[in-house]
Amino acid sequence: MLPAYDIIRALDGAHPMDVLRTTVSAIAAFDAEVADNTPAATVRKGVRLTSQVPMIVAAHEHIRNGRNPVQPDAQLSHAANFLYLLTGRPPNAQTARLMDIDMILHAEHGSNASSFAARVVAGTEANLHAAITAAIAALSGPAHGGAAENVMRMAQEVGDPSRAAEYVKQKRANKEAVMGFGHRVYRTEDPRARHMRAGVEQLSRERGQPQWYQILAALVEAMKPYARHGVNVNVDFYAGVVYYLNGIAEDLFVPIFAVGRVPGWTVQVLEQMENNILIRPLTLYNGPQPRAYVPIERRAPSP
Ligand SMILES: CC(C)(COP(=O)(O)OP(=O)(O)OC[C@H]1O[C@@H](n2cnc3c(N)ncnc32)[C@H](O)[C@@H]1OP(=O)(O)O)[C@@H](O)C(=O)NCCC(=O)NCCS
Repeated sequence: MLPAYDIIRALDGAHPMDVLRTTVSAIAAFDAEVADNTPAATVRKGVRLTSQVPMIVAAHEHIRNGRNPVQPDAQLSHAANFLYLLTGRPPNAQTARLMDIDMILHAEHGSNASSFAARVVAGTEANLHAAITAAIAALSGPAHGGAAENVMRMAQEVGDPSRAAEYVKQKRANKEAVMGFGHRVYRTEDPRARHMRAGVEQLSRERGQPQWYQILAALVEAMKPYARHGVNVNVDFYAGVVYYLNGIAEDLFVPIFAVGRVPGWTVQVLEQMENNILIRPLTLYNGPQPRAYVPIERRAPSP
């Protein structure tokens, strides 16, 4: 991980998703098996990336705050280790379990944008590091992975459960999306969300900050009229509060999604490689046609 720390130091002011994407791309150069696309080597690289990605996210957090990265503890589970790497303290069993559930829920989810991006790259016979770099890039957009970060900001902006209905009304009046609701595929509640709900309620109470769960519950209530139109809670709705209550900075919420998703990306790349095809969709041109060729000197100057 030493070259990775140098790369992170050089980039430490950037958004953690940009740091993660660039560092994963860069560490390909230090992986002796980078160009070996056999299934066995791809699994080994996937296992390495599964441990390296949380280390990169946590190391960046320490480096940008002027501290040295924490070294992993081999006695801890993957989820507990990640919290330990981030905070320097091993979490209690309950918090480690909630993080484990969060990681399991985020591990794999069909043809979502980032997994599809990974498949497109793997389809060209590029290697796993290239595919996962593209997946991280796709995940960084707010319509995909950015929602948990935005949900917590929304909860802070709402500030009190009694203001949730007014907040939703305002958002809809401005034709803006309410974060943590809606999904390209689900028309019902995202089935992953329910696995977080009880844990979030308990964690909020335990930490003496029940208002966060109450605000989320009030937002769900206020969004009920939209459920008819298929706009329901998605997985990111509850995750943000778990991270926030563990003292994790908001801009690390999407990287945490990436930490959980690395095994899923790896498995999809393996599946793609097993029966590979170059993914090359056709696009339908629907502009004006046919048009006469105008020599460049006779074209109107661009504004
Ligand atoms: C995920 C998302 C991009 C899917 O968008 P989409 O596929 O275009 O959504 P739909 O086509 O089902 O939208 C149907 C209607 O519901 C509305 N809608 C969708 N998501 C909404 C939301 N979060 N808040 C309010 N209204 C929403 C749309 O504006 C649309 O209304 P219209 O028919 O009047 O134009 C969108 O729901 C969104 O931006 N959600 C917030 C971000 C988020 O939580 N992302 C994480 C996804 S796991």
